[in-house]
Amino acid sequence: MDSNKNRLSQIFTPDYIAEFMVKNIKQHYFSTHNESTIDKIKILEPSAGKGIFLNYILGEGFTDITAYELDQTLKTHLLRSYPNIKLKFENFLGSDANEKFDIIIGNPPYLGQNYNAQIFQELVKNYPICKKYFVGNMDLFYFFIHLGIEKLKPGGLLSFITTNYWLTKSKKTGIKHLKPHITKDCFVIYYFDLSKIKVFKDAKGQHNCIFVLQKKYEEEKQKKIDKKIDIIQVKSGNNQFNENPPEKIFIDILNKKNSPHLLKYQSAMTNKDLSKNNGWILKYPHDVKNVVEKIEKHCRFNGIKSDLIDFFVIRNGLILIKDDIFILKENTKLKIVDSDMFIKIDDAFIKLNDGEKQKLKKIYKSKVIQPFNYDKNDFSGYLIYLDKNEFKNQNLTIRNELVEKKYPNLTAYLNQYKGEHENILRNAKENIKDIYFPRRGSFITQYDTEHKRKLIKLEPYYDKEPKIFFSYISKSNVFGYTKDSYYATSDTYFLWLREGRNDIDYLFLLAYLNSKIVNFLFKAKNIMIKRSKTKLEEEIPIPNITLFRSKYQLIIIDLIRYFTSSIIHNIVSVDETKLDKLREISPNTYSQIRNEKPPRRIIDILLFILFDIVEEDIDILIEKYY
Ligand SMILES: C[S@@+](CC[C@H](N)C(=O)[O-])C[C@H]1O[C@@H](n2cnc3c(N)ncnc32)[C@H](O)[C@@H]1O
Repeated sequence: MDSNKNRLSQIFTPDYIAEFMVKNIKQHYFSTHNESTIDKIKILEPSAGKGIFLNYILGEGFTDITAYELDQTLKTHLLRSYPNIKLKFENFLGSDANEKFDIIIGNPPYLGQNYNAQIFQELVKNYPICKKYFVGNMDLFYFFIHLGIEKLKPGGLLSFITTNYWLTKSKKTGIKHLKPHITKDCFVIYYFDLSKIKVFKDAKGQHNCIFVLQKKYEEEKQKKIDKKIDIIQVKSGNNQFNENPPEKIFIDILNKKNSPHLLKYQSAMTNKDLSKNNGWILKYPHDVKNVVEKIEKHCRFNGIKSDLIDFFVIRNGLILIKDDIFILKENTKLKIVDSDMFIKIDDAFIKLNDGEKQKLKKIYKSKVIQPFNYDKNDFSGYLIYLDKNEFKNQNLTIRNELVEKKYPNLTAYLNQYKGEHENILRNAKENIKDIYFPRRGSFITQYDTEHKRKLIKLEPYYDKEPKIFFSYISKSNVFGYTKDSYYATSDTYFLWLREGRNDIDYLFLLAYLNSKIVNFLFKAKNIMIKRSKTKLEEEIPIPNITLFRSKYQLIIIDLIRYFTSSIIHNIVSVDETKLDKLREISPNTYSQIRNEKPPRRIIDILLFILFDIVEEDIDILIEKYY
């Protein structure tokens, strides 16, 4: 693709998808309108390409058709093929928002703002719609949705095929205007999840969806009418099908035939549940919701559901000016002989004083994190961890002199890279005097019960408090834990307990977070840990252990703690006496877990009993939907 084509984002829709979308929108439209009016229906294709949609629109008997296409090289072809269509070879985003349509359909261009800032700047300069709805991190097709919504008549329908990432994004990541605009003016009435099908052969790793929006009538807005959302999703597990979906099944959907490859249901999420600011989990079947609610029933504190965010502040590990310099690798920049340490300055190894040795901390990358644990031996090196606030309330030049006096060799080592480090700080608009310290991750702000802001120094926490942590990129629930000294780079997230929240049972929580129950929540709520952790903070409910009161439940909780502790400490053998009480109260459960099962499995079994959930029910749901 040449750069101009690239900029236009020309990827054409396969015939069977275009045919499906056109027939589908027609069905939807005529389910509420009189079919004899087809001549009166104004239909718009905002980015026609070679006219794949136009072909089927004509084929379905529509006559009042308008289409836009920016690429002049397609002009001759389009004019020749579609003489009866109002073709406009200009930018759709410049078209008049007051010219209204009954149906808008197509495959708009996808183009991320991040890598195409210049193109977006031009659009913002030239077109009011772009000026109104521009936000960093957005995609070009958001503008097509915005203008599409404005150009719809009340009751009118818009159907696009797009990537599906925008649905699960939160307001910090580019959907700031899109979701409020959709929820204010439209209902989402239909969502076809194509993420398991390869629709565009050339677009690698892209996940797509087809959605239908219906513009609200004024009255529907005022009366705050709600509407259900119809979902179609492809069943998992058949790669052959996913690569080459039999085109016929798309027509089967329209003929209301069942396909073994597809699931059709109404989402447990209705339009009133769609948040303006957060991700939408449209693929949310009622039977999944029932189990989620059953889990959440045990996660109430004073009657209110509590999530991770209510207990913890989730923060990254340490951001350094330069990892290679601040993390000393043994035998290259650091030598350890018995209990002495030597740092490399100007080709010589200089011995560190005792205070300096205290400031070298083993540091880990997120790859070492395992469920309940971490690989202790796989540390990345020794971090130079000096604390800015050890010398606070000083003029910064004097402060640095004091640091140099107390830590002469560490600072001499760092000063070898002074110019480079100052540059990095300067470019990041940070204080260039801070060359000896971690840039972030050594403090967090907390608010005490009187809402007073407090700066909490993390060094003692990294050194010895109990810590739960997880990798910043993960599809599943892997939570590590230790009470030992554990410093980590910024690819690790830490759960820091909020001020005043001392009612956390770490062992139990750790068991729960690593459990099959939470794994199910990850799937049900479409949680993937990425750089943004909002979903995790707000979607993982925390069990309230005090709600479990029966003798049997208390025995189970004790056992969960016991087995969790065995995993943490790598203890393989089971202390039989720990199981005595269980054997007495429930010989059944006892024999179930005494079957030589690994501790993680036992914990899962115990948690299922505690939450009163049948494991097979979850297995069936996972098999069916995910
Ligand atoms: C993803 S392709 C889809 C084309 C066609 N709808 C299809 O499905 O095959 C997007 C098309 O939009 C055109 N395009 C890009 N930006 C446009 C704009 N601002 N106004 C009108 N057309 C545009 C491109 O040239 C390209 O042909």
